[in-house]
Amino acid sequence: MFPHKKRRKEAAAPPGPVAPPVLFPDVWIFLVERRMGAARRGFLTSLAQRKGFCVAPEFSGAVTHVVSEQNSFTDVLSWIERKTGKPMQSAADQTSPHILDIGWFTESMSLGKPATVEARHRLGILGSQMCEDRAALPSVAPYACQRQTPLTHPNSEITDALEMLGKAAALQGSEVRSLAFARAASVIKSLPIKLRSANEAKNLVWCGGHCQAVIQEILEDGTCHEVEELKVSEQYRCMELLTSVFGVGVRTAERWYKDGVRKLSDLEELNIKLTADQRAGIEHYADLKQPVTLEEAERVQHLIKDALCRFVPDLTITMTGGFRRGKQQGHDVDFLITHPDQESLSGVLEKAVDWMDSQGLLLYHHTKVRSHVHAPRRSTHMDGHETCYAIFALPNCDTGRSECEAGAPGATHSDLASPGAHTWRAVRVDLVVTPHDEYPFALLGWTGSKHFERELRRFSWHEKNLSLNSHGLYDTEQDCSIPATSEEEIFALLGLQYVPPPYRNA
Ligand code: CTP
Ligand code: MN
Ligand code: MN
Repeated sequence: MFPHKKRRKEAAAPPGPVAPPVLFPDVWIFLVERRMGAARRGFLTSLAQRKGFCVAPEFSGAVTHVVSEQNSFTDVLSWIERKTGKPMQSAADQTSPHILDIGWFTESMSLGKPATVEARHRLGILGSQMCEDRAALPSVAPYACQRQTPLTHPNSEITDALEMLGKAAALQGSEVRSLAFARAASVIKSLPIKLRSANEAKNLVWCGGHCQAVIQEILEDGTCHEVEELKVSEQYRCMELLTSVFGVGVRTAERWYKDGVRKLSDLEELNIKLTADQRAGIEHYADLKQPVTLEEAERVQHLIKDALCRFVPDLTITMTGGFRRGKQQGHDVDFLITHPDQESLSGVLEKAVDWMDSQGLLLYHHTKVRSHVHAPRRSTHMDGHETCYAIFALPNCDTGRSECEAGAPGATHSDLASPGAHTWRAVRVDLVVTPHDEYPFALLGWTGSKHFERELRRFSWHEKNLSLNSHGLYDTEQDCSIPATSEEEIFALLGLQYVPPPYRNA
């Protein structure tokens, strides 16, 4: 049943560390863990390193920029002094090293280079005054599509906890509770400042008593007991494991759990019948559970463009999903394919997929044909585009640039799959073909986030009496569709301010 088991184990071996190139050797950042927490510090460290910054693991004389979050100038100084055992000079305009607020770091990351240090970045007298006089929390609009939600925000410990509770509710089959947690997390993700007490969240939409209790626990103890219980709960851990397999939803995972499945090898032992998707998902599990990096996504894009353009040279191929929202990694790579001439689109995906298969670039694929000629009018759930759900054998980059770009030409699937020949890694890819007049709607629908989409559709229906999906916008009373030529136009038709993709991380 699992012919490639041996290879799977080998694929799970961690790759050797590859140090990202240092682009700014004169800047040496130190992130203060106090109040930031180890997890966020780790995340920010790898983010900065990927962008070519040096991040010091320990404080030393080499550090040029000390960055902290929600600490005062004196907090940071005394923290460093305790760590190093040496007194620091305590002038408020400290420049060696710069003692900075997280704002400097965030700005530098989005600039892609160290931001020039200005007074507003510094802690110190100015910084602590700002801390005391901070404005009251801004009021938050009720629908996620009416707000800007960036990828990084200052309350991630709280939103991580709320999202985990939401996920647990979904895994228990409680959609309503899951949605309530997702809404609360999404509201807090849109806040530009760090919450200091549960009381501050009292007036926020969707943040009820349970949410406030979670906030209070996180702010006071740094953890939430419900989350800690989930982390050690056998049922939660199993359900999370099983639903992380490609092709396995909550219902299937529930059934397997009831049948006694606790780990993936139990599926074989208990002789559980698997679909083709699930078999492929298990065979490549070790690779697929590793996040896809932006660099890998760009290499996938290159392969796909090369394959599709062999048949139709001027197709529009757009990377959507999380990467379009500015994420640096994801669970898959999503693409939208279109052309002004409908004839050109006909059969092109099938031809390109067959060609890639013949080149050994596909480990698995399953194509869903377009389910209707005309876009479904009433459904806000249905998505009937021609879609290929694939697992790519992405050639490794270290085997040489030409192979990397051309995708190991001449190699067959069995060559690539032969044990010991690890010249590729499995990557999940979604390819969606859309008629040109539906393209703006498909782009909006496939960019996500899932919560942003859900809210956009709910807003359209409840506030505008219009039905929105990935095919179009429909006035069900007049029984007509409302065309649009861009995402901006769709927002305008709905009476919404345009939200650019990096702010749809609801
Ligand atoms: N989507 C969809 N129809 C599907 C699957 C997904 O319309 N059958 C939409 C989702 O609503 C989401 C987007 O496509 O808005 C991307 O989905 P997915 O790849 O699951 O999520 P990402 O946001 O890309 O997250 P990740 O980076 O982990 O892949
Ligand atoms: Mn995706
Ligand atoms: Mn996807």
